[in-house]
Amino acid sequence: MPEMTNRVAVVTGAASGIGLATALALAREGAAVALLSRPDDDLAGAQELVQRHGGPVLTVGADVGNSAAVRAAFDRVESELGPIDAVHNNAGISIVSPLTETTDELFDTLVRTNLAGSFYVLREAARVMQPRRSGAIVNTASELAIMGQAGYVAYTATKGAILAMTRSAAAELASWGIRVNSVCPGTTKTPMFLAEFDGVADPEAELADNAASVAMHRIAEPSEIGEAVVFLLSHRASYITGTHLTADGGRTTCVPAGSIGVSAQ
Ligand code: NAI
Repeated sequence: MPEMTNRVAVVTGAASGIGLATALALAREGAAVALLSRPDDDLAGAQELVQRHGGPVLTVGADVGNSAAVRAAFDRVESELGPIDAVHNNAGISIVSPLTETTDELFDTLVRTNLAGSFYVLREAARVMQPRRSGAIVNTASELAIMGQAGYVAYTATKGAILAMTRSAAAELASWGIRVNSVCPGTTKTPMFLAEFDGVADPEAELADNAASVAMHRIAEPSEIGEAVVFLLSHRASYITGTHLTADGGRTTCVPAGSIGVSAQ
């Protein structure tokens, strides 16, 4: 029997990229999936795609930075799909900006979506799961929660906080039978990542440079992150909580093979 049969899952930021890939993987594993994304996202397109792999699929337009909208979204999913078992708390944005040029408004925008939004979704997930004393939550952090990069001071602040939040939530919710983990994706071929190359003179060369800094010498496909998330949400990860799974092709832990040491094959 597929891993997520008869389970109800919510994925935020599900209209594209990593969230959409997780939703596809969950549907293939038999889950009923609620796709939550901004109201102006192409949720109908995402729904059509996910439905081809399984069902039922519900779409919910909501801004995760609006706590009332998040609460209403969770209530709607429970009333239309049933009790929620699994949540991929994934919606996020990236803004690249040198530290001294990062305005209060830019910082607040990042914090509103990436940190407050992740908190609101985590809180609602706990609220609906606690009465049933079971559930699994995966928060999307980033490889940039673990290592630094110029231009990402504000972004990394939000992603590092997600790891801290994950640990405390896991500590608090363990006795309720709820597991909480994070996934730390490396660079992944999504609309968000590709948008960072807008205006770059030679995007192909930049992409090649980026891949060269990864031990596996390539960037991730969204489906490769989605599979890691489904593992953490599934019963196969039944003794894993309060930690993060880094899916970054080895970037944060390995020096790519090159001229020093054993050369690349
Ligand atoms: P994406 O832009 O393709 O997808 C993100 C989705 O979230 C979009 O559909 C977007 O409209 C939605 N969204 C954004 N703000 C929202 C809000 N306030 N409320 C509801 N929905 C909202 O981006 P991608 O790359 O799939 O990113 C997903 C997550 O993965 C983000 O948290 C991002 O920080 C993280 N990440 C991405 C990496 C990459 O290289 N693509 C690397 C590491 C982490």
